[in-house]
Amino acid sequence: MKRNSTLILLFAGFVLVIGIVLAAILNDEQPIRYNHEKHIQDADLECVDCHRNVETGERASIPNIETCSECHDDTEDENEEIRKVATYVDEGKRIPWKQVNVVPDYAFFSHRRHVFLGKIKCETCHGNVASMVTPFSEPYREITMDWCLDCHQDRQVSSDCYACHR
Ligand code: HEC
Ligand code: HEC
Ligand code: HEC
Ligand code: HEC
Ligand code: HEC
Repeated sequence: MKRNSTLILLFAGFVLVIGIVLAAILNDEQPIRYNHEKHIQDADLECVDCHRNVETGERASIPNIETCSECHDDTEDENEEIRKVATYVDEGKRIPWKQVNVVPDYAFFSHRRHVFLGKIKCETCHGNVASMVTPFSEPYREITMDWCLDCHQDRQVSSDCYACHR
């Protein structure tokens, strides 16, 4: 009996480790090694130049080939990552970004409300994006109801269930 349960425990531990490793590999891979710092410092862009709906809509929007093609169309560029972008542009294919910050459908969140009306800076919720040199693999702040409510309480904004669960 004792030996059996040790084996079961060992096996369960093994499965768990494999699961964690697989999850890590599958999770943090964006199709291109995008670099925020280069675009803000070297290309002198602002957040809203790429995340075009962030002041006017619910979703900030993640830019794709329509935006990238303005600067990257050289499929022979010496930088391998830029070549990848240019190839998506050349073939008219969407870059399959994985969105990492997600609020479930049953809760309502609007960027316009927070950024334009609430005057909250991107950094408050997303961290120092302007100096990120690798793409997002996880949210800067875990998106939980407590996180939303803490700030709403601090700033005396509605904590009524129906404000967020419509
Ligand atoms: C009050 C917190 C908060 C602020 C301020 C904020 N965001 Fe967000 N952001 C979120 C949350 C929450 C999500 C997930 C939203 C969803 O799933 O609809 C998100 C998602 C995103 C996404 C990915 C999905 C999308 O909406 O298209 C981008 C890009 C983004 N934010 C950029 C920005 C930028 C740029 C700014 C500043 C101009 C900003 N955010 C300000 C909380 C915030
Ligand atoms: C206004 C011009 C402009 C736009 C628009 C633009 N980029 Fe860039 N990008 C640059 C500049 C400038 C560099 C730095 C050039 C270099 O390193 O050779 C760069 C560099 C890069 C690199 C190489 C980063 C590194 O670390 O070496 C990648 C990858 C990249 N861009 C992806 C994108 C993607 C994806 C888009 C669209 C979402 C995009 N860029 C939109 C100007 C732009
Ligand atoms: C040249 C275009 C460009 C500019 C300028 C830019 N971004 Fe992004 N942003 C991207 C791309 C492409 C992605 C998807 C790759 C990644 O996750 O890094 C992204 C992803 C994000 C995400 C994560 C989206 C998700 O998956 O949830 C946030 C948050 C974000 N950007 C915030 C900002 C902020 C804040 C600024 C200004 C300081 C900014 N971005 C400027 C192109 C841009
Ligand atoms: C850093 C502070 C902060 C965080 C975090 C935050 N909010 Fe807010 N929220 C505000 C402020 C400030 C306003 C009021 C903006 C204005 O002036 O209209 C607001 C307004 C709202 C409103 C409109 C409320 C109404 O009265 O109709 C909704 C809905 C909302 N937030 C949802 C969310 C959700 C969902 C989250 C978490 C995913 C979240 N907020 C996280 C600060 C925050
Ligand atoms: C400021 C916005 C906001 C307010 C106000 C709010 N919620 Fe939520 N709620 C969220 C978000 C965002 C999530 C999803 C994130 C998570 O699961 O933590 C959520 C998740 C939930 C869930 C699913 C949680 C789970 O653990 O699966 C329930 C149930 C819920 N809320 C009930 C309520 C009730 C009841 C109230 C009023 C007392 C309320 N919420 C007020 C934003 C809000």
